[in-house]
Amino acid sequence: DAAEKGGYEHYMLKEIHEQPQALRQTISGRLDTDIGDVDLNLNIPEEYLQSLEEVQFVACGTSYYAGEYAARLFEKIADVRATVSLASEYMFDGGRDPSRTLTIAVTQSGETADTLSAIRTAAEAGARTLAVTNTLGSTVTREVDDSMYIRAGPEIGVAATKTFASQVITLAMLSVYTGKRCGSLSGGRASTLLENMRAVPGAIQQVLDREQQVKAVAEEYADSDAFFFIGRDLGYPVALEGALKLKEISYDHAEGFASGELKHGPLALVTETTPVLAVLTEGSRSEKTLNNVKEVQARGAPVIVASSMENEKFVDELFKVPSAGLFEPLVANVYWQLFAYHVADSKGRPIDKPRNLAKSVTVE
Ligand code: G6P
Repeated sequence: DAAEKGGYEHYMLKEIHEQPQALRQTISGRLDTDIGDVDLNLNIPEEYLQSLEEVQFVACGTSYYAGEYAARLFEKIADVRATVSLASEYMFDGGRDPSRTLTIAVTQSGETADTLSAIRTAAEAGARTLAVTNTLGSTVTREVDDSMYIRAGPEIGVAATKTFASQVITLAMLSVYTGKRCGSLSGGRASTLLENMRAVPGAIQQVLDREQQVKAVAEEYADSDAFFFIGRDLGYPVALEGALKLKEISYDHAEGFASGELKHGPLALVTETTPVLAVLTEGSRSEKTLNNVKEVQARGAPVIVASSMENEKFVDELFKVPSAGLFEPLVANVYWQLFAYHVADSKGRPIDKPRNLAKSVTVE
């Protein structure tokens, strides 16, 4: 067991540290920076992509947040209308044309019952279906028209970490694929995006190299009453995922909010004993979130920021995010993973197998 954990105390920590390597596998042989395109080995007809009306993501848990990140990327990169549904809430109704809809199941295991049920609903309605999964030959791959593998390698910890990063980068490649074939993405812009993707493993490594800083901050705030994560745009799914990681493994109360929604309710919960963790990077409309950071500071909340900007001298704790374009929020997420891990570890929680949770949920 100790050997399998590669010297780490928990699988989760090992898997957090495996992210640069996992992402190199995810992109390996798939990016052509020179011509600004991706090679995904997919046989989706070009005419179909050109007539696409909507891309729908269906998923649960962490995969759902990867879908939330991806939907925003699809709108920005491929200029396609993208929606995200919790698989357990998915229905195919309304006036959409199923033959112009692509429904994408995002599922690490490929076995989540709610996600399988949603993708069956889409297929029955006549939509084209695609699975984005980590598991070769999993049930979902047998039910869809096309499959893409995220190639993150096996993930043992119940709390998903490296697979989230690999899902987002896989879906980013898919958005480039779609944008190029729909004619909405230029080669130049695609090349920049591909360079940004290539920068992510190195950027994440720099975050991992600062683990001792994160550990010290996590231990300082571990006994807080609650933890609130905020972010906008691509930073919003990262806020949700940061809160999910923390609640899953530390059993502390943690919630993620869209920064702009704080003033519509959550602000009533903010006190000196509720740290607020904010994402201030490219792709997260940080100038606006900065105002929200000031609002919580005025209520005495400690502020912990993951930022690629230069202007946060006033925050309590600053974690530096190296530049990676639209993937900076994804890089910032690694700080939240390490934070969650060290809060939970300082409390002696069974990190790899949190109470009441399972790695793969095969009941609806
Ligand atoms: C369970 C796991 C989560 C995971 C979710 C979806 O709840 O504990 O880590 O995000 O299922 O799993 P999937 O395999 O479909 O991505």
